[in-house]
Amino acid sequence: MIRFRRMHLVTGKVQLSPNVTRLDLEASRIAEIRQPGQFVIVRRGNGAERIPLTLADADSVRGTIALVIQAVGKSTCDLVALEVGDSILDISGPLGHPTEMIAAGRAVCVGGGVGTAVVHPIAQGLAQRGVEVISIIGGRSRQWVIFEEELSRLGQVIVCSDDGSYGRQGFVTDATRELLEAGRVDIVYAVGPVPMMRAVANLTKPFGVRTIVSLNPVMVDGTGMCGGCRVDIGGETKFACVDGPEFDGHLVDFDLLAERLGTYREFEQRASAGCEAGSCRVGLTRPDPPSPAPP
Ligand code: FAD
Ligand code: FES
Ligand code: MG
Repeated sequence: MIRFRRMHLVTGKVQLSPNVTRLDLEASRIAEIRQPGQFVIVRRGNGAERIPLTLADADSVRGTIALVIQAVGKSTCDLVALEVGDSILDISGPLGHPTEMIAAGRAVCVGGGVGTAVVHPIAQGLAQRGVEVISIIGGRSRQWVIFEEELSRLGQVIVCSDDGSYGRQGFVTDATRELLEAGRVDIVYAVGPVPMMRAVANLTKPFGVRTIVSLNPVMVDGTGMCGGCRVDIGGETKFACVDGPEFDGHLVDFDLLAERLGTYREFEQRASAGCEAGSCRVGLTRPDPPSPAPP
């Protein structure tokens, strides 16, 4: 019997920052049942790498999901080179546990870089429950700030830029500290580069404010079988794909996470070299170096 695979059509494409692209794709069942904090694993075509990406948004009426992709290497470059009308071979999900939500009170959602898009569905879920949401988002300069408009529909947004070219000058941690000192923060959600999530977790700990971070270890199958996404949470081994990807930030071993993220760097650099040589059509070569770690 011949089996026909249903491809996922790209229905929208927007360049959000020099290396971050939003793709809207047909995936009606996922759009219907997805919950905040969940992700998918996509494969662009036969033989392509499996790439975990957060469900940044969804439209259950149109049957589409939004993926916000930072082009950092071969597979993400290949994905952002897709155009409206192209298709992705498969999208598995939704995967992972939905976000732990509070029922009332004030939540601070901190997003750095592409993490701002990852924090968006969390802010959406909180706002739908009637929780007061304050989003603190940042980038190196104005052109790197994404999802400001989407988050401003859900509550107050504080924008920070490292160079002061947009919003207030400084790191997202500076604005988070001020809110914590002013009091009445019930929970903090932080999503972004590992140094940023570590800095937010270190900041909230003395205030005793529960802090949820979304971890991004290397994932392969997304089903708990390969062990690739192993993380250490409070001395216990967890698999981020099935036990997370969100965890208590005060219990995460960030050193181990950072170390394991670099495990395949040599292979990734070799794969990206092909990307730079011309197969990547996104018009960029390597991502800019990350912002300095917040204090
Ligand atoms: P490579 O050059 O292969 O790798 C660059 C770096 O990306 C590596 O050093 C490693 O740190 C990381 N990486 C590589 N392969 C994987 C992998 N299979 N799984 C996870 N990390 C990997 N990125 C986004 O831009 N948007 C998102 O919404 C998003 N959501 C994520 C949700 C989860 C649950 C996880 C685990 C990761 C998420 N990521 C997201 C990160 C994204 O999956 C990686 O950037 C991507 O896989 C890199 O692939 P590459 O081939 O382009 O880069
Ligand atoms: Fe294989 Fe989580 S991705 S165990
Ligand atoms: Mg890769």
